[in-house]
Order: sequence, then structure tokens, then C-alpha cells
Amino acid sequence: MIPVCALGDIHPGEAVRLDGEPPISVFNVDGELYAIDDTCTHQDASLADGWLDGCLIECPLHASCFDLRTGKPTGPPAKVPVRTHQVVVQDGHIYVVVAPVPAVT
Ligand code: FES
Repeated sequence: MIPVCALGDIHPGEAVRLDGEPPISVFNVDGELYAIDDTCTHQDASLADGWLDGCLIECPLHASCFDLRTGKPTGPPAKVPVRTHQVVVQDGHIYVVVAPVPAVT
């Protein structure tokens, strides 16, 4: 598990980006925490810099929205989902369990 921050450090409507490889962002949607790969699958934009609307994050570059629950884009230009990751809260701290990279078929 990758440590993120204290539970109180991400307020509702906010995101925290982890600058790993690849970067991952954790979003707080009305107290529910979601983690996804931070980089848009269309081009090189940070989704943590986008606009949160419920469980949708809008890419700041070309406005594709991704569902934080599934990682799927809701419309073009992005077509490929971002990975979603499990979020664990233990003793007041947030952790991310990084999902495996999907196999290329
Ligand atoms: S970079 Fe995200 S939609 Fe183009």
C-alpha cells in the first residue's frame, strides 16, 4: 500500500496527487474516497487539476470526463479508461492499493 496523507487532509471536492510512476490521484467526493491514475488517457494532462462534478472528473485539457468509480470516460476525445485503485483508511491515514497494469492483448 502507498501512503497518501491523513484522512483530514483531503476535504470534500479536493484531490491529492501522488507523484509516483505513474502518478495517482485520490479524490474526496462528499466523504467517499476514490483513486485513479492521474494522467488522462487522451494526452498528458493531470486529472487532479480537473473539475470534479459528483463522481465525474473533467480533464482540464479537452474536457473528457472520467467516472471515478469505474475509470471509464463518458465521452470523447478520451476513449481508454484510467485505472482505478482501492483506497484503504487505517488509523486516520489514507493508503492506495495500486491495481495491476492490465495485460496488453
Ligand atoms: S488530455 Fe484529457 S481529454 Fe485530452
